[in-house]
Amino acid sequence: MSLKLMLLLTFAGFLTISCENNSPNDLEGDIPANVTYTEHVRPIIQSNCIACHQDPPINGAPMPLTDYEKVKQAVLTRPLLDRISRTQGAEGMMPNGGQRLPQYKIDIIAKWQAQNFQN
Ligand code: HEC
Repeated sequence: MSLKLMLLLTFAGFLTISCENNSPNDLEGDIPANVTYTEHVRPIIQSNCIACHQDPPINGAPMPLTDYEKVKQAVLTRPLLDRISRTQGAEGMMPNGGQRLPQYKIDIIAKWQAQNFQN
């Protein structure tokens, strides 16, 4: 590989990384027209809840949130939306002791329920 090409690739890689860092990253996002568990809800739960709500759950979490049925049941029978909608630092806010989810992610999960839990 030529030196020029290597420099170019390095620069391109640097640009990619700095763009990612400069974006307002997690705070804003689109709410998809059709929300599905696999494409939209699962990634939110995976990165924010599974640390404790794994199977079996740890750190005192009462139930796993590891698949479609478990998350759906938690929305229907445990106040999942209520818990993630509480204000930062409020008692019982999820993720427990962590940072409140950005509003659009909460809205995605609410829409998932409103659209009758597409898988
Ligand atoms: C750091 C560990 C931890 C993380 C991360 C976490 N939880 Fe929890 N969760 C707990 C603990 C501990 C409890 C039990 C105490 C309580 O009810 O507040 C709990 C309780 C809950 C409950 C109430 C269950 C019931 O039947 O009362 C819901 C719903 C819930 N979590 C959802 C979530 C969701 C959704 C996320 C991700 C956005 C999340 N949790 C992230 C630890 C965690």
